[in-house]
Amino acid sequence: MRLGWISAAATILAGSMLIASPAVNSSAENQTQSEDDNRISRGFEIAPVPLNLNGKDRKLVGLGSYLVNAASGCTDCHTNPNYAPGHNPFMGQPKQINPKYYLGGGVHFGPFISRNLTPEDNDLPAGRTYDQFAQQMHTGIDLDHKHPQFGPLLQVMPWPLYQDMTDHDLKAIYEYLRAIPHAEAGVSKLQPSSTTWTFSAHPIGEMSGPGVIYLSENGNLPVNFTSIAITGLSANDFKITSNTCGAVVQPFKTCQVSFFFKPTNIGLRQAQLVVSSDDPNSPLSITLAGVGN
Ligand code: HEC
Repeated sequence: MRLGWISAAATILAGSMLIASPAVNSSAENQTQSEDDNRISRGFEIAPVPLNLNGKDRKLVGLGSYLVNAASGCTDCHTNPNYAPGHNPFMGQPKQINPKYYLGGGVHFGPFISRNLTPEDNDLPAGRTYDQFAQQMHTGIDLDHKHPQFGPLLQVMPWPLYQDMTDHDLKAIYEYLRAIPHAEAGVSKLQPSSTTWTFSAHPIGEMSGPGVIYLSENGNLPVNFTSIAITGLSANDFKITSNTCGAVVQPFKTCQVSFFFKPTNIGLRQAQLVVSSDDPNSPLSITLAGVGN
């Protein structure tokens, strides 16, 4: 009796589903279609760089832009620095991704550095064919074997997440990466005019003339200083008299730190001028030396 009721209900249900399903499907299809279109047009709206659509599949590029710029966080890890000056949303500023360094890589995660994803001379994103790109996204294999000491896999890069993406979405990301301009990572490079400064011999308590070290930014990013100070065994025998560096030195500019020597004792006196900043080579250490007599 019960079984009969269930099977009767199932038959009715199946029947009604059969009748209803074409209508349900087509409206769901329409919805999916327009959702895809929405993502494609949103993708074009939010692309932070001009796109070269020549010979590309326009729909894939738009979808790829949506996935890269609104869904997958590629930009966060592959653009250095990520935001244009004055446009860091974490500081309450209006958001603008840095078009100059867009996806040029160069973000440091401990020993791992994100790679350049932009098209290279051969027009291939990151220099990869689609098959190589898809292989990396699926398996995390580092085709450049950059750090065999950690094994064959890309580290930090969330490929265990991306490996579940559909081929269509991966193709869209790849097509978008083909359409963006080539870019290089922003790098700061602070270089001192010398790594040592030696004063002539001076009697104890007598002040020398000024010594000077120039600090030049030779990369393409500003360098922000956290401290410039003299440390070391004979730190008291040297003193900074002027420092034009302030808080920051702009790209390709130079600032200078002057100091004097006033020995507190006889013999070799030595200390370090230590420059701490957000430069990858920080801290810089310049040896200051002099003889007291
Ligand atoms: C959490 C940070 C992070 C995110 C998010 C991220 N990546 Fe990466 N990616 C890295 C790092 C770091 C490396 C280099 C890893 C290493 O050296 O082991 C890398 C490497 C790669 C490589 C290898 C390049 C080559 O030349 O071999 C590709 C391709 C890549 N990422 C694509 C992407 C794409 C596409 C996205 C977004 C869908 C993305 N990444 C999101 C951090 C990230």
